[in-house]
Amino acid sequence: MCTPGLEAVCHRELEEMGIRSKKAGPGVVEFAVNARNLYAANVWLRTASRIVVRIATFRATDFRHLQHHAMDIDWRHWLPDGFAPRFRISSHESKLYHTKAIAQRLHQVSMPPSLGEPEQLFVVRIERNTVTISVDSSGQGLHHRPWRTELGEAPLRTTMAAAALLLCDWDPATSLVDPFCGSGTIPIEAALIRRRLPPGGEREFAFHHWPCFEPGAWASVAGEVQQAWRSALTDNEAAPVLTDDEHAGPGIVATDRDDAMIAAARANAEAAEVADLIDFEARVVSHLRARSDQGLVLTNPPYGRRLGTNRLVGLYRRLGAVVRERLPGYGLALITSEGKLARTADGDLRPIASFRHGGLPVRLHHRPAQPPGHQSVESSGSLDTTQLDTVTDR
Ligand SMILES: C[S@@+](CC[C@H](N)C(=O)[O-])C[C@H]1O[C@@H](n2cnc3c(N)ncnc32)[C@H](O)[C@@H]1O
Repeated sequence: MCTPGLEAVCHRELEEMGIRSKKAGPGVVEFAVNARNLYAANVWLRTASRIVVRIATFRATDFRHLQHHAMDIDWRHWLPDGFAPRFRISSHESKLYHTKAIAQRLHQVSMPPSLGEPEQLFVVRIERNTVTISVDSSGQGLHHRPWRTELGEAPLRTTMAAAALLLCDWDPATSLVDPFCGSGTIPIEAALIRRRLPPGGEREFAFHHWPCFEPGAWASVAGEVQQAWRSALTDNEAAPVLTDDEHAGPGIVATDRDDAMIAAARANAEAAEVADLIDFEARVVSHLRARSDQGLVLTNPPYGRRLGTNRLVGLYRRLGAVVRERLPGYGLALITSEGKLARTADGDLRPIASFRHGGLPVRLHHRPAQPPGHQSVESSGSLDTTQLDTVTDR
């Protein structure tokens, strides 16, 4: 399962892992599971929210049918000793629709070994009287990265930051700049990709507790993870210590006008063990440093009804001008609910993905790096650095 709008990129991630999959509806990408690919998908997918395993599909128009079929499920296969089942139920155009009563019947049938905490989640979808029961293999949602403890006011969902990097085809061997980095979500996801580290670190998953857990399959996936950490550590130790002037190679740059946000982003990056890959600096967007290398500016500038479009026009215009004049070898990508504002920043930006974030429809707008001499479709004028950055999202 993923945020609706991210199916294509989640599908692509699975294919790149050698797992054949297909998009199967909003927020759903399907693949045939075995223990190894299930464990690996939980560990390595950067854009999925949760991985569930379908354990039964049947038709039911009344409780008798529901209980009859649910009795065929080998609940002991999935329900660890001491765990209680929790049923998350949705029903559309079906005779069974009373979610509390459905949960009660499934509870009776599954004969739970425990009634309290901890819980094992089962996802029950009833669509036109067809019931699908799936067991959750992830536990805490995959977008909960353990390193993310310091949050700003409007943090981006981690899976969306990772999806944006992949959708823009960011090459991890080139630079990445986020001038509105907030709590650092985009730069940290970029650093994890560059270092080829799993997005969730060494977290635990629901499948670890299943009675049908296969230690051999897990050992092989865990071995891969340990290898990734070893390589990351070796790369880190082998890296030469550079002075500021020498630091011209591909960087990951995280800036924000707010000192507290930079401190939060740094703390998160330290927890993710990638702080050494990121240059943090408190700096308004107008004062972004010039860079002559290749890369991508991917950012999530202030937006939203609360701030009002008019107040933000100047900020977006300035962002576009800064990128054109100081980062000429860079592509640009903005995650914002405001298409008009994005075009104010750069007339060549095109929406390449849509999803909902914080209750608002949001789009990822992108333009690749432009060849030298390219004329922008809509020129917003040149940068006036004497203008003050007066707009904040507070
Ligand atoms: C939507 S938030 C970014 C959230 C971030 N992606 C995250 O995951 O935490 C926008 C950020 O822009 C910063 N900001 C607002 N105006 C700015 C300016 N003129 N220059 C630089 N940063 C600014 C705010 O401090 C805020 O952290």
